[in-house]
Amino acid sequence: MRIYQAEDYKAMSRRAANIISAQVIYKPNCVLGLATGGTPVGLYQQLVDWYRKGDLSFAETRSVNLDEYLGLSPHHEQSYRYFMQVNLFDHIDIKPENTHVLDGLAKNPEAECAAYNQLIRDLGGIDLQLLGMGHNGHIAFNEPGDDFGLETHLVNLTESTINANQRFFESRDEVPRHALSMGIKNIMNARRILMVVSGEEKADIVCRAFAGPVTKEVPASVLQLHPDVTLVGDRAALHKLAEAGVPVCG
Ligand code: F6R
Repeated sequence: MRIYQAEDYKAMSRRAANIISAQVIYKPNCVLGLATGGTPVGLYQQLVDWYRKGDLSFAETRSVNLDEYLGLSPHHEQSYRYFMQVNLFDHIDIKPENTHVLDGLAKNPEAECAAYNQLIRDLGGIDLQLLGMGHNGHIAFNEPGDDFGLETHLVNLTESTINANQRFFESRDEVPRHALSMGIKNIMNARRILMVVSGEEKADIVCRAFAGPVTKEVPASVLQLHPDVTLVGDRAALHKLAEAGVPVCG
């Protein structure tokens, strides 16, 4: 596992964007696993900037997103499809048909999940999976206690995740209670993993995930078992890890 500490959020975003950019340059038709949330916004802006300058093209790139709220249409401002359009896809040359996000309006969620697993296989697997980490250690919507053997599945969101996501909705009642999410098995099958973390409020959970034991109680800790993980964080998110003696590169 490689851990890069950047000075601040902007530097973290640039470093992470560099890694994604390298992947796209080395293999233009690669499959990128993408994430939503606050942390990757800056790195998506950086990728858009490099695309506009002519340094990067996504014309052959395919993408699969980690997760989607159940019950939200792709046009709902809080849907993850909408997030991806606004923050990345609408501003680069990726072909719309090459972008894949789970369907939040699926009538049969189980069938949607099974089809998504098949899609990932048909694409040849994920070359680089981008991840953020929740305050409770979740990755995608794999919550504490969830089985590490799951593929894409229907999730009941925990109180802690509903509380954390409330800031994006007008009221707590509007926060969806269910989501569709890749499972830990899909994530662990990716050839390479890039996790981004930012801010002091992530420092404790980052430390538990990477300086503590691998445990279902901290889903991100499973990444210790993956052969090719890069963690990029700012100083605020990584300082406790460094203090715990885990080697961190500048
Ligand atoms: C997003 C996702 C989530 C987030 C996590 C961190 O697709 O799957 O697991 O990565 O909740 O979110 P932020 O970046 O907002 O702290």
